[in-house]
Amino acid sequence: MTVQPPIAMLAELTHRCPLSCPYCSNPTELVRKNAELDTDTWIKAFRQAAELGVLQVHLSGGEPAARRDLEDLTRGASEAGLYTNLITSGIGLTSRRLDQLEAEGLDHIQLSLQGTNAALADRIGGYRGGFDRKMAVAQEIKARGIPLTLNAVMHRQNLDDLDRTIEIAVELGARRLEVACVQFHGWALGNRAALLPTREQTQAVKATVAEAARRLQGVLAFDFVPPDYYADYPKACMNGWGSTGLNVTPDGTVLPCHAAETIPHLEFQNIRDHALADIWNDSPAFNAYRGTDWLPDPCQSCERKEIDFGGCRCQALALAGDAGATDPICRKSPLHAQVTRALLDQPNDRTDAFTYRVNP
Ligand code: SF4
Ligand code: FES
Repeated sequence: MTVQPPIAMLAELTHRCPLSCPYCSNPTELVRKNAELDTDTWIKAFRQAAELGVLQVHLSGGEPAARRDLEDLTRGASEAGLYTNLITSGIGLTSRRLDQLEAEGLDHIQLSLQGTNAALADRIGGYRGGFDRKMAVAQEIKARGIPLTLNAVMHRQNLDDLDRTIEIAVELGARRLEVACVQFHGWALGNRAALLPTREQTQAVKATVAEAARRLQGVLAFDFVPPDYYADYPKACMNGWGSTGLNVTPDGTVLPCHAAETIPHLEFQNIRDHALADIWNDSPAFNAYRGTDWLPDPCQSCERKEIDFGGCRCQALALAGDAGATDPICRKSPLHAQVTRALLDQPNDRTDAFTYRVNP
């Protein structure tokens, strides 16, 4: 098959972070500071990405502002010709650093929102004072006119605050709000009993987002990641494995998605040892689930196989024990009824207590 170039690169510059969100998408085995790529290697990776066809880089973490060279990295990505998006909690972004990031060519900021008030947000993020600091940074971003997306990971303990979340996005002048219902990988999988929304919340969130998107047309755009445990069909995770995006971890490991390292039989190559184009085009890991030829039944004979590519490989592993299986969220999966019944009809298993992410 012909391999199309990727569009986006998620650059996890560091796993260090002042917050400890219990749904963090970082792996449970975090990379330590002394194993992180240095400035020059990251900039070389950005150049290789641009040559390969990547258009935008998401400078992410952990908290990317924990890197003292964030300004140099932003300049390097910008000079490579990439659209630069900073994904941040806001902690560590001083006024001076924002000025400098803007001067180095930063195009866009995506600010996370853990909750709509200090008590809730600081409990979820595990960081006292984080909400107030974030709101101050958001005002600085607004004053500078840097395009802003607010990124709200939603789950059972904050979904009832969705209306206020939307109001905050409007007040902060955000152009876009990502209502991202939590995906159960990494730390979130371990916290599923504290995060899994109720069926009622799941129905309400869809209606609220649809109504707000209509009402705020031209003011605030919405990206909606629905809560898929209650869905009939799975999402096209990463728009299909190895199709449009790649992730680079703090130590330079190149992955087809953020949770790919949970798949034990795959070996992932490192940007220190291989050219990015070779990894993308030819590595066994990127080709393992690319396209549709590998799909099992019922996907192989399904009319949706070019729409969702059999769902999420990491979710198939977590729920079915096989990364090559039909994602059990799909109603056609032979495991669907068993898995969803076990997950959704056990309200007594729910807890409000979090296991917080640790700092490497
Ligand atoms: Fe998607 Fe496979 Fe389900 Fe069809 S059977 S909807 S391709 S996951
Ligand atoms: Fe890995 Fe979906 S998170 S394929």
